[in-house]
Amino acid sequence: MFVGNFTHMPLRCGNSNEIIEWSLHAATELGFPHQMSPTPFSSWPSVALNTGLQMPLLGLGTYKLCGPEDVRRAVDAALAAGYRAFDSAAVYRNEADLGKALRELLPKYGLTREDVFITSKLGPKDQGEKAMEGALHSLAQLDLGYIDLYLIHWPGTQGLPVADERNPGNRAQSWASLEELHGQGKLKAIGVSNYTAAHMTALMQSCKVPPAVLQAEFHPRLCQPELRSLCAQYGVCFQAYSSLGKGELLADPVILEVAKNCERTPAQVLLRWAVQQGVPALPKSSNPERIMRNAEVFDFTLSDADMDRLSALDCGHRFCWDPSEVA
Ligand code: A2P
Repeated sequence: MFVGNFTHMPLRCGNSNEIIEWSLHAATELGFPHQMSPTPFSSWPSVALNTGLQMPLLGLGTYKLCGPEDVRRAVDAALAAGYRAFDSAAVYRNEADLGKALRELLPKYGLTREDVFITSKLGPKDQGEKAMEGALHSLAQLDLGYIDLYLIHWPGTQGLPVADERNPGNRAQSWASLEELHGQGKLKAIGVSNYTAAHMTALMQSCKVPPAVLQAEFHPRLCQPELRSLCAQYGVCFQAYSSLGKGELLADPVILEVAKNCERTPAQVLLRWAVQQGVPALPKSSNPERIMRNAEVFDFTLSDADMDRLSALDCGHRFCWDPSEVA
């Protein structure tokens, strides 16, 4: 189990050369593959992916963020607060708005395309023979030259029953298309989302390019120790989504108590709990004030006792979709 097994190491972080006292899992013991290092993006820390690419530890989730004005307002607030990573998906229908907002707003902050890390995802309707078309569509919608990280969003195929035996073949075909675009430099890193241990193992056995990232639901009620352990073994970065439990965890009594004791917001506690373990997180908010506050997680540390208390909430509860039945 990962719970309660931490070691401390100093991290030199970003332009300010500020030293942050980090709590990380005992890297040698767990085979944790990702070096925490100064990010090229901002003063925030990043993790090294198996491609050599650096990915910021905190990014803005954009699920349900849509419409050019809302996206622009959120991106503006995020860039101002120091976010340099943005997580989109074909199914969010905001790739075009995100790309436009970034093209317009990066100069305002003296930034260029290379200063930001953009993730998007292949929609389940494009799984299989339409994967190349789907990925090229994401590239065109974002219109940012390349995508830093492109994920297969879901192990299943839209329109097929979850148990349908065509799902594995479609996933393999999608992966081959992503590998091709990765080889062309259009997708700097490729990965998967919502894959179970079985899906991951099958992919590792058949791929030419191993996945750089597995993005999965992760919060104190769903700690995913086996999946994280497998990722560590395969050298795949485990990234969290729904760190706030779609907002519902913000009312959890234990989280409220820890937040009160350390004079932080519940959202900051949940995000700190993830990044303190070296797990990159992607809080979604459309609210500029919350976007700013959610970013204030690199200037405090949760005690080992608080980390353990939060991890002890693990009960396998999902707020989002469950991929375990997908063949
Ligand atoms: P909003 O966009 O109105 O801020 P998750 O990342 O787990 O999916 O959670 C996202 C949800 O949590 C969204 O509904 C978002 O709503 C809400 N949220 C994000 N940050 C905060 C915060 N600091 N306080 C309260 N709610 C938040």
